[in-house]
Amino acid sequence: MTMQRKLIALVVAGGLTAVASAPALAAEAAPPPPRVSWSFSGPFGKYDQGQLQRGFKVYKEVCASCHGLSFVAFRNLADPGGLGYSAAQATAIAAEYQIKDLDDQGNPVERPGRLADYFPSPFPNALAAAAANGGVAPPDLSTMAKARTYERGFPWFVFDMFTQYQEQGPDYIRALMLGYRDPPPEGFKLPPGAHYNEYFPGHAIAMPNPLSDGQVTYDDGTPATAAQYATDVTAFMMWAAEPHMMARKRIGLQVMIFLIVLAGLMYFTKKKIWHQVEKPREIAAGQDPDKTTI
Ligand code: HEC
Repeated sequence: MTMQRKLIALVVAGGLTAVASAPALAAEAAPPPPRVSWSFSGPFGKYDQGQLQRGFKVYKEVCASCHGLSFVAFRNLADPGGLGYSAAQATAIAAEYQIKDLDDQGNPVERPGRLADYFPSPFPNALAAAAANGGVAPPDLSTMAKARTYERGFPWFVFDMFTQYQEQGPDYIRALMLGYRDPPPEGFKLPPGAHYNEYFPGHAIAMPNPLSDGQVTYDDGTPATAAQYATDVTAFMMWAAEPHMMARKRIGLQVMIFLIVLAGLMYFTKKKIWHQVEKPREIAAGQDPDKTTI
């Protein structure tokens, strides 16, 4: 075979393999996560304080043993537009944690957390985290609600622009929490140590199913189900990723109202200032109404 023929044969073979494997890939693609009506969606969306506090409890009691939250400080728990804790409550929560620090001689010590500290990560470094979790380090959850999304495809992304749907991340995370299937569907080869999840890209996830009914006690009478935990912890992660969302939406709305009023004022101002000036085209054509009357 000449070089050229070899090349053509390779291209054809490659194309055929791609065509043959396409249905298999399509079959493995994750289904779109179900849409949840979040309290924080839309231009008037607000965080539900009770839900954020419950979600924080789930994070603290379940997820924190593997996942860090390193961009969130204890003082943020008392920020307006968030969990609604008082400074004293946030201080008490901070004091439950042990923070690595240095003493005056520069020796490493552990001391109780203060408001200014950030949530400590459960592992000393990424390698230790990976070693304890089957080779995959659990990612930090601070910005996870914004870091994950999924393709909605045409024409949905066009509608989404108008409906302001931007909760793909939270929808995905909640679906992921509830998407574990054991045993995996027939014919799916699960790598050792991995777990089957319907919504995880590729389906084989290193995180074991973290939530089960009754695992966390809720004090406010909310049903203690895995689905409720998943919703609440996702809302909490959304707050962690965007703690100033409520202020952003409020200011955005005020700015829109201001611009609409300003546009109206500008229109009438323009009419008032220019009402005595003739149309330039009429003047050019010698039809200036003022001149013809002379
Ligand atoms: C036993 C340790 C462990 C616990 C507990 C745990 N996770 Fe994970 N998590 C992991 C590991 C490991 C990964 C990385 C998975 C991978 O990439 O295969 C992960 C990944 C994730 C991801 C990212 C998935 C993606 O799309 O990449 C999210 C979101 C997540 N965890 C949320 C949570 C939440 C919320 C909780 C608490 C309800 C939780 N995890 C509890 C170990 C854990």
